[in-house]
Formats: sequence, C-alpha cells, structure tokens
Amino acid sequence: MNILRFSDLVAQGKVAGRRVFIRADYNVPQDGAGRITEDTRIRASLPCLEMALKAGAAVMVTSHLGRPTEGAFKPEDSLAPVAQRLTELLGRPVPLVADWVGGVSVAPGQLVMLENCRVNKGEKKNDEQLARKMAALCDIFVHDAFGTAHRAEASTYGIAQYAPIACAGPLLAAEIDALTRALAHPKRPLVAIVAGSKVSTKLTILKALAEKVDQIIVGGGIANTFMLAAGLPIGTSLAEPGLLDEAKAVISAMSARGAAVPIPTDVVTAKTFAADAPATTKLASAVEADDLILDIGPQTAARLAAQLKAAGTIVWNGPVGVFEFDAFAHGTETIARAIAASSAFSIAGGGDTLAAIAKYGIGGDVSYISTGGGAFLEVLEGKTLPAFEILERRAAV
Ligand code: 3PG
Repeated sequence: MNILRFSDLVAQGKVAGRRVFIRADYNVPQDGAGRITEDTRIRASLPCLEMALKAGAAVMVTSHLGRPTEGAFKPEDSLAPVAQRLTELLGRPVPLVADWVGGVSVAPGQLVMLENCRVNKGEKKNDEQLARKMAALCDIFVHDAFGTAHRAEASTYGIAQYAPIACAGPLLAAEIDALTRALAHPKRPLVAIVAGSKVSTKLTILKALAEKVDQIIVGGGIANTFMLAAGLPIGTSLAEPGLLDEAKAVISAMSARGAAVPIPTDVVTAKTFAADAPATTKLASAVEADDLILDIGPQTAARLAAQLKAAGTIVWNGPVGVFEFDAFAHGTETIARAIAASSAFSIAGGGDTLAAIAKYGIGGDVSYISTGGGAFLEVLEGKTLPAFEILERRAAV
C-alpha cells in the first residue's frame, strides 16, 4: 500500500517545529467510576507520540471515547482518565484542552491532548467545515488510530483530505504491514480461524476468506451451522439453520480450490449453558437431541493444532469454544498454544480473541496482535478501509 509514513517524514527532517495533529484511538474500556480497565491502546500510541516529540514537533493528540451526543459534552465523555494514564506512561504532564476546534496553543516540544473529538458537532458525519477547521490546526496530520480506520469521520477522514500533509503513524503503519503480510502476500498454507456465535455476523468474512485461504477453521455457533450443513446432529446448540445454503456454498467454494473447512469430529457437550454444567466428550455423530455443543473435542483440537503448527500464516478471529468456562476451554487453549508454538506468521484480532490470548499468556508468541475490533473484521471482509483509501490518495498527489 502506497502511503506516506510519519517515520519517513521524521527521517527526512520535515517534522521539527511543525504542528502535528495525531488521531489516536483511545476508546478504552472503563469501569463504573471511569477508571481505565485495559490500556493496550494507550500504550500502543506511545511510539507515535514519542517520535513526534523527539523530532521537535508541537504535538496535539485526540481520540473519540464512547459514542457521546455531539454538542452536549458530559463529564463521563472526558478523555481526562486517558490524559492521566498517558502522563504516567510518558513521565510528563499531558494537559487536556477543551473547546479546541477554533485554535490550540502548543509549542514545539510540547504535547497537549484535545478533548473527545466526538463531542464536536459534525464529527460523525464528516462535516466539511469541521474537518477544514481541524486541518487548519496543523501542518501534518498523522492517522494512528487503526481501531477507527473503518470510520470516515471528520477527525479520521475529512482532516486527512484537507491537512497540508496526511500520513500514517507507526501503529497504523504496523497494522497495515501485518495485514498485508498475512492477507496480500501470505506464506502458505494460510489458515484462518473464524469463530463466534453467529454465521450471519461473519458471513461476509467467511465468503471473502473462502477465496484466498487454504483452510478455514470454524468455531462456536459458526461451527455448529457448518456441522449441520455437513449433515451432523447438533442437538439444541446455537446455530442458524436459515444459513445452511450459505455454509454449504463456502464449503464448496473452498473444495473447488482444493482448500477445506475442517468439520469437528468430536465435541464437548452439556445439557445446560453453565460454568458448572457437567461436560461430556463425544463423537460429533453422537450428539443427542438435548445436547449443547460448547467446545470442540480433544481429537479435533489435536488435529487442528497439527494443521496450525504446519501453517505458513495464521489469521485468528474468535475462540472455538466457551473458553470463559474452564470445562469448555480446552479447544481454545489447544488452538492458542498451537498458534504460539507455530513458526507461522500469526495475526490475531477481536475482543474475545484478545481475552483468550491474555488468559493463556501467549501474547509474546503471536506475531501481531491487532488493536482493531470492527476495523480488523472489515479488513478480513476484504473491504478497503476509509483511512487506507484517503492516505493512499493523499500519497499519490
Ligand atoms: C472501537 O472501539 O472498535 C473503535 O474505537 C471504534 O469505535 P466506534 O465503533 O464507536 O466507532
């Protein structure tokens, strides 16, 4: 992808003394008291901030937080907890500026945070006037918010149109590089794990991946629908019988290319959906009418693990069982450990997947962990994200 990179501008000495506007994604989870419960995205933004400060820029950084009503700022919309966390991480004060669209005072070597950009009227609709005002605040716009790259809003898209220079920050560039390596020029075999409760929410992904991967490992409710399509009993398990034809179409598209969707041969079932429900391992063909399938069985897990270990590239989205309940976590743990042990280039994304990675402590063994939720899924769907499109267009002129 031909985009301008902030690191190149720094290397070319084009950043010193410049006003740099960084769009980060600080949409982080908070508890009832507003305390940040998970700060990966904040830590992931540090390289860009440090790069800009070291280069002698006057640095502004902003983000959205939640989905506030535009024009009606409420205290809970504030980025104050993020500014506080950044202050700790950077070891320097990060002042928070409210009502910043009309002008920001910041000197070279300084960093200020601009309050939640989604409270500005016109942000969501990418209002041209708002975008032009934001663009006027800077000499260089740096998009470093991969988590928001699938949104075309004033602070992510319009500003990139009108700023004198628009480029990708190190986080966005790393995400692009990892996704390109996994999907555009993968080392084969390329194996994708697509799991989750519903086929309907991931149907576009399954169809898009059916065109390019060597194997799609399905899990969760998605696997149940595929088992049904393969003529297997699934009892009372979560599935979407209305999408059987779609599942069959994915299976035949894959086999026409010599690729496959491995269907579970054994499963772990329970009679109720509960952490303490007795778990029974059985052949997939022996699932009873009142059974709920809550995990893949050990034989299936071992077979998939062997395939993952032999893969050249792995794309992971979704746990294959109810891994939050220990009795039904074996499949997801086996898959996670196989990915960790594999020499394949592996990329993982999505909230549940990241929770599984954290639970098994394998973060250091996955080649790239994406900070994007919806954005990661849209890339898997084969869509061109608005952020990529505008940055490519700006690099071309
Ligand atoms: C996310 O958390 O997925 C991103 O920050 C995007 O948030 P949004 O769905 O509210 O646009």
